[in-house]
Amino acid sequence: MPLIKRILRDYMRPYTRRMCWSIFFMVIAAAMTAMFAKLVQPVLDDVLINAKKDLIVPIALSVFACFSLRGVATYMHTVMTNTIGQSIVSDIQKDLFAHSLKLDLKFFQENPSGEMVARMISDVNVMRAAVAEAVTGLFKNFLTLILLIVVMFYQDWVLALAAFTIFPFAAAFVAWLGKRLRKISGRTQESIGSMASFLSQVFQGIRQVKAYGQETEENRRAALAIDRVRDLNIKNTTTGNLSTPVNDVLVGLTVLGLIIYGGYQSVAGALTPGSLMSFIAAFLMAYEPMKKLAKLNNNLQTGLGAAERVFAILDIRPAIITTEATRSLESKAPVIAFENVCFAYDTMGGDDAGLRVLDDVSFTAKNGEVIALVGPSGAGKSTILNLVLRFFDPVSGRVTIDGSDIRDYTLESLRGHMALVSQEVVIFDDTVLANIAYGDPSAGEDRVIEAAKAANAHEFIMAMEEGYQTRVGENGLKLSGGQRQRIAIARAILRNAPILLLDEATSALDNESERLIQQSLQKLEQGRTTIVIAHRLSTIRSATRILVMDAGRIAESGTHAELIALGGIYASLYTDYAHG
Ligand SMILES: Nc1ncnc2c1ncn2[C@@H]1O[C@H](COP(=O)(O)OP(=O)(O)O)[C@@H](O)[C@H]1O
Ligand SMILES: [Mg+2]
Repeated sequence: MPLIKRILRDYMRPYTRRMCWSIFFMVIAAAMTAMFAKLVQPVLDDVLINAKKDLIVPIALSVFACFSLRGVATYMHTVMTNTIGQSIVSDIQKDLFAHSLKLDLKFFQENPSGEMVARMISDVNVMRAAVAEAVTGLFKNFLTLILLIVVMFYQDWVLALAAFTIFPFAAAFVAWLGKRLRKISGRTQESIGSMASFLSQVFQGIRQVKAYGQETEENRRAALAIDRVRDLNIKNTTTGNLSTPVNDVLVGLTVLGLIIYGGYQSVAGALTPGSLMSFIAAFLMAYEPMKKLAKLNNNLQTGLGAAERVFAILDIRPAIITTEATRSLESKAPVIAFENVCFAYDTMGGDDAGLRVLDDVSFTAKNGEVIALVGPSGAGKSTILNLVLRFFDPVSGRVTIDGSDIRDYTLESLRGHMALVSQEVVIFDDTVLANIAYGDPSAGEDRVIEAAKAANAHEFIMAMEEGYQTRVGENGLKLSGGQRQRIAIARAILRNAPILLLDEATSALDNESERLIQQSLQKLEQGRTTIVIAHRLSTIRSATRILVMDAGRIAESGTHAELIALGGIYASLYTDYAHG
């Protein structure tokens, strides 16, 4: 119930007017159904048995009007309800998407992208059934049922009371069924999610699948996931449709009783045939909405199962909350400082030093400086950039820009000051132009080309069939690793931000292109605050300061010359590098 209330409150409101119309037509449809049951009596008693001539045509016309009106009203009601349902689905999808974009990186690490897609498409659609169809259908059928019951009581109240002894049984059964279905629905949606996630991973990793000859294994795993969805769907059907036989038997029993009792009553003259038939017609017609109510309850429960999952996401609050910070970062020459920063990705284990990815890291990067991070993989270099970007917040200590904690700035203004070339280059399935322009969507084509030239990418782009308009495929599948990296660098150059974050930005390039890009990067670094993670030591000799990271700590720091003179980790790394 709170779930339904929430759907009504948050999503139904804009459609109140249309909803009122829909209910209006629904009431007409229900009234016409009851009216017909009532008309059975005059049809039998006045037209057939007592043969009142002047009533024949009016009664026949009433029956016709009754049906026509019901048809039109039902049509209007159905169309309107469906329109509302579809609109609500799209509203929820938009909300869900916008909300997910606000969530932390951590959320996306824990929820595979395929599963998110399934939630946005499959769950929301299942929800539609609960939202509009079920909610309004419940109304309509309830109303029809009640009106028919009124007709029954009008015809013979003793009989009506007797007939309704089956009601509590039917209701209890429907409730039990609903509970089961809701559980099954939750599990179905969950398994659709993991199936989607599995499929999208296989398609994304199709090169690996083929190269390692894993087709058979992937087929087996796909079959498992697919069959699981099938089994749950079958279970949904076998359970949900139980309502039909159970109801039929209960109704059959009642009709049996009615005919026997009514027959004797009629013979005794206590009941006209018309009244009895009208009663039975009303009862049988009441049976339709009753059946529908049971079915709708199933849909409702299934939909609520999906709604729970959808709202679970809508209810997640990003841990990196932006609403508290109202200050906008405005800095042409930002100074970044780490002050005794400790960090762990997984804080569940408490303050266990073993989990620490960063341990008491302090350094300052002034404007115009290039801070280079070196060290073995897993040392925590990329993590430092993650904290600067505020993808995560430190466990203790703080990261500041121009002396203030970055948590005091709005995320938008903070990230607006940064250009990132990440370790895993992300290329969208779009044109080369759009991919570079992602760095600054307001930039014109000439600025994009300028940036591409600086990133040494112009030539290979022009060599492609459609130049800047070439679509590069998902994850830039049509590009080589080095080409992808150059597009990412062009994107960062175009952004023209005062803080430059480079994470092994040139690792996929050959020596020659790297040398060329290095030149343009060095030009770019002028007047900015740069943190660069280098995989080749040759590229950082000119850095203002080199921080040697080891297991989350800064082990050494200084200029290239100072560190060589120190004769520590860096010196031995460099000797290995120079001779290897
Ligand atoms: N998103 C993440 N979630 C959990 N652990 C992570 C995540 N990213 C990195 N780690 C762990 O943190 C440590 C440091 O990683 P990272 O900063 O990427 O190292 P580097 O860039 O120096 O190679 C590694 O042990 C890695 O396993
Ligand atoms: Mg890294």
